[in-house]
Amino acid sequence: MDNVIEIKHIGKKYKEWVLKDISLSCSKGEWAAIYGSNGSGKTTLLEILSGSRKPDGGELVYFGRDPFKNRRLFSEYVGYVPQEDPLIKDVSVNDNIRLWFSGSKKELRELYTGGILKLMGLDSIKNKRVSTLSGGMKRRLSIALALINNPPILLLDEPVTALDIKYKADVRKILKGYIKSGGTVIMTTHDLRDRELATRVLLLKDGVLSDLDKEEEIYG
Ligand SMILES: Nc1ncnc2c1ncn2[C@@H]1O[C@H](COP(=O)(O)OP(=O)(O)O)[C@@H](O)[C@H]1O
Ligand SMILES: [Mg+2]
Repeated sequence: MDNVIEIKHIGKKYKEWVLKDISLSCSKGEWAAIYGSNGSGKTTLLEILSGSRKPDGGELVYFGRDPFKNRRLFSEYVGYVPQEDPLIKDVSVNDNIRLWFSGSKKELRELYTGGILKLMGLDSIKNKRVSTLSGGMKRRLSIALALINNPPILLLDEPVTALDIKYKADVRKILKGYIKSGGTVIMTTHDLRDRELATRVLLLKDGVLSDLDKEEEIYG
């Protein structure tokens, strides 16, 4: 099957080389869960994949094209949920959504009544100011924003960390639906439950990404 994502020998150096040689290919419908201890470079890797940070070597290919040569491809192909919620706190939920959404008013109304915004429970809090929301609600809004323009690739940086059991379940339900509809997910996580759900489990360690099989210890 054709690859949606090809990461070829990507490296990143701050003072030291945090990412040394990262390679990974993902096809449509794949859900990759990346584990790795604090400071192993997970956020750096997702920043590169989202186009918000430049690598110091290697190549990134989405649908056969290099998004660093045509940055419009990042916004066309990628929805990104960063580790810190990227929300504007002093305005309402709906204001945040309107800023991101590229469709029409009619399409937005439909998302509130039957689409992703309804599914995420955002219809009932659309007029609330973001600063008054719980951590779980803010996370749901961030995920909704990443999905609202129907990107074929979804990147999530520790999406369930600090969420309670109900919200974790909601997020996973959404990801399952997204995969089923043909999306491709790369997420970082510390939560072992994600290992059961993902189609592919990887460990980032010493600047290199390697596949883990089902039984292998993660933090040995
Ligand atoms: N902008 C930066 N400048 C310098 N060092 C950084 C920067 N961002 C991250 N680092 C360092 O790179 C390493 C990996 O960080 P990070 O990608 O946040 O890892 P993780 O998400 O796995 O915790 C850490 O040692 C961190 O201190
Ligand atoms: Mg991180």
